[in-house]
Amino acid sequence: MNILLLGSGGREHALAWKIAASPLCERLYCAPGNAGIAREAECVALDIADHAAVIAFAKENKIDFVVVGPEAPLCAGIADDLEAAGLKTFGPSKWAARLEGSKGFTKDLCKANDIPTGAYERFKQPAPAKDYVRKKGAPIVVKADGLAAGKGVVVAETVAEAEAAIDMMFGGGLGAPAWEIVIEEFLRGEEASFFALCDGDTAIPLASAQDHKRVFDGDKGPNTGGMGAYSPAPIMTENMNGRTMDEIVLPTIRAMKAMGAPYKGVLFAGLMITDSGPKLIEFNVRFGDPECQVLMLRMMSDLVPALLAARDGQLRNFDLRWYPDAALTVVMAAKGYPGHYAKGTPIEGLDEASKVEGVEIFHAGTRADGNRILSNGGRVLNICAAGATVRDAQQRAYAAVDRIKWKDGFCRRDIGWRAIERENDSR
Ligand code: AMP
Ligand code: GLY
Repeated sequence: MNILLLGSGGREHALAWKIAASPLCERLYCAPGNAGIAREAECVALDIADHAAVIAFAKENKIDFVVVGPEAPLCAGIADDLEAAGLKTFGPSKWAARLEGSKGFTKDLCKANDIPTGAYERFKQPAPAKDYVRKKGAPIVVKADGLAAGKGVVVAETVAEAEAAIDMMFGGGLGAPAWEIVIEEFLRGEEASFFALCDGDTAIPLASAQDHKRVFDGDKGPNTGGMGAYSPAPIMTENMNGRTMDEIVLPTIRAMKAMGAPYKGVLFAGLMITDSGPKLIEFNVRFGDPECQVLMLRMMSDLVPALLAARDGQLRNFDLRWYPDAALTVVMAAKGYPGHYAKGTPIEGLDEASKVEGVEIFHAGTRADGNRILSNGGRVLNICAAGATVRDAQQRAYAAVDRIKWKDGFCRRDIGWRAIERENDSR
């Protein structure tokens, strides 16, 4: 079949790599793609916010299946528009994508269905929001409704900080003034990411992962889109995975179906593992980036039939197989990220780096200039490796990093530290 993948990051490179390996895939296109994706797929310069252009391309090129990577087009209804045009699409409808697009929607869904999450209230005005903060005390979490590319959350250590966040969000500090905010209980525990594949009726677990959101070693400095990740997350034992499916994922799928917005696609549950078990921090309606990269390295089964079964409502008896190995990815970013950084700086040594055993390099933000590879974003490369343990995977990934010559780039040197400490403890 002919497949069109939408997106341009490291997540999409990993998906392209896995899809291209499927015997079901005849031609793979990616819009808009990047220099790494171009090795797996034919990249096409389409604006994926222009749904009509995507539909026209898909029809002209006899696309049998469209796979949507990022959340923005899903929340804008691209799956609805493609399906309405007769194109099979992997990814939730606009209505179902509210699980990521609206924090208030998701919190109300949790409350109505006894899904464990932090206590909260929704507010449309600053004064009652501040009253609530003063009543509850700090630490407390302030979140703007709607997609904010990871910037809409303030974990306030003090009441004054929470009040300032309320004023900032209602005052337009995130771009447009927030129309609603959610104030949420601060949850204590260890964070983990959990992924499930959903077909509208049911869901099957994919795998767990943990990422490193802070820019510097020791989990310090500002938040980023993710500086590295590994899978599985040691805290996600079989029991914890089972509880996450039973207490969070499956009740959500049932509730979405009951309200006439069946959820199809990948559901990414950001969890806090507390003393009383998993609690939902947030849902995303797509694979994580860079979590997807490590998931794809660990997946033994063909991805394409799994994505098709999710689209077709056929997951009930579906079985996925995984390698027992761990996988880890180190993000290489442009110096200055997540603040200001330069684009167009040259990167060398990628071929040498990819020769390290178990290593796979995915491009997150690159472009080709003749034979040269140039940086083209903040997060630029994902140096991924599989290994018997997280430590083995980490050693391989950094051996590859050390072969890359990019003077304008940097990476964290401690990706996986928490899992490796646990491996050391259990020895
Ligand atoms: P989100 O964008 O909702 O994933 O939030 C970003 C980060 O803020 C999360 O990864 C957590 O580290 C933190 N966070 C969000 N909500 C909470 C909460 N209720 N309790 C503690 N930390 C939180
Ligand atoms: N790495 C976190 C995310 O994709 O949202």
